[in-house]
Amino acid sequence: NEGSLWGARFASGPSTELQLLSRSTHFDWRLAGYDIAGSRAHAKALAAAGYLGDAELNAMLAGLDTLLDRVESGDLTAAPSDEDVHGALEGALITVVGPELGGKLRAGRSRNDQIATLVRLYLRDHAVRIAELLIDLIDALAAQASAHDGAIMPGRTHLQHAQPVLLAHHLLAHCWPFVRDLERLADWARRTDASPYGSGALAGNTLGLDAALVARELGFSRVVENSIDGTASRDVVAEFAFITAQIGVDLSRIAEEIILWNTREFGFVTLDDGYSTGSSIMPQKKNPDIAELARGKAGRLIGNLTGLLTTLKGLPLAYNRDLQEDKEPVFDSVDTLEVLLPAFTGMVATMRFDTDRMAELAPQGFSLATDIAEWLVKQHVPFRDAHEFSGSVVAYAEANGLDLHEVPDDVLAGISLHLTPAVREVLTVSGSVGSRTGLGGTAPERVAEQLATLTARVRSL
Ligand code: ARG
Repeated sequence: NEGSLWGARFASGPSTELQLLSRSTHFDWRLAGYDIAGSRAHAKALAAAGYLGDAELNAMLAGLDTLLDRVESGDLTAAPSDEDVHGALEGALITVVGPELGGKLRAGRSRNDQIATLVRLYLRDHAVRIAELLIDLIDALAAQASAHDGAIMPGRTHLQHAQPVLLAHHLLAHCWPFVRDLERLADWARRTDASPYGSGALAGNTLGLDAALVARELGFSRVVENSIDGTASRDVVAEFAFITAQIGVDLSRIAEEIILWNTREFGFVTLDDGYSTGSSIMPQKKNPDIAELARGKAGRLIGNLTGLLTTLKGLPLAYNRDLQEDKEPVFDSVDTLEVLLPAFTGMVATMRFDTDRMAELAPQGFSLATDIAEWLVKQHVPFRDAHEFSGSVVAYAEANGLDLHEVPDDVLAGISLHLTPAVREVLTVSGSVGSRTGLGGTAPERVAEQLATLTARVRSL
């Protein structure tokens, strides 16, 4: 079993079937740069503990640098006989620095503490990337909000007209979940900021290696407190997968609205040609595929999380090979978001709103009925009665094909003597929106404050 990391006690090499099943290089090769960084840090710990002389350390580090160059240039890749990235790189190091020196690197470490560390390093970098992409999306939504600061749209509950709101308020409502996703990533990064390197296979190492030195070299602020936990837990991976799934769900909700807004029936938005697709048979078609793919990929991101949690459930301590199954799903989640987010942001940044159409629909569906009831409350009518009176105005208007402000004075007075013609002052969408001045409300001055708060919050992360 030449070149393998574990041949001696075996009478034969692994069967072909086992090799095919066990091999992980086709997905863990993307960790090669991190594996080399870990090896550099580990070599320094070996030298600090007296297992490598200065010249040996320098030769080892130079050899590892050579490997990194060769990995980055694509000149070094895994061979079919390599089980995983760790074994492949150890084999390659030996060809560069020779078996005498190359054979010393593995002392005091295990692939179990290596992989647990590398996956953290990888996810930490991609968390930064995903955060940048999320900020781009938030900026695009916020820019659309400020470009349409006076525009009014029908606000909906149950997908039915409910109360008019500012378009900017609605767009910012989609920003806040993404802001919380950013905060989740930052919070996750704090929990992930502990190095498992030095945990060995599970019990720690006997060689007096300085795990804090390795942690520092790799940019971790601390070492995991428990070597078994360090090698056997993957909650940092699952939590990362959760955050990506939540981002997927948040994207999917705005995606669904954009799909609706883009229909002829709604007619609220037009998507830019560069961010829409056509049909192979229907020449007139222009489809919102980016939004649909976002909605679809949310399912994939949720699936990755669900699969990962299912793999972890019931696993006894410490390391089990099942844990190798953590990487493909979470790598897929990273890849998915890193492709999806830029396209989604481009679509959002370039979509054009038909604000006249939105404003025209805003008062329809008797969406100002609550304003009548609340106007009555201000005249000291109990809300239960006010709700009833306003409901009667709606019933009359509906039966007679009128809008609320068109209901005649005598009909209003017949419903309640409190319903004087003065009620009409609240029966405009701008009056309605402008009166919602409570904190977090849709009044223009509140929305302007909200935009400033949002921008400051994102910049503070
Ligand atoms: N490839 C493994 C993983 O991704 C790490 C190697 C550990 N293998 C072992 N036999 N202990 O988790």
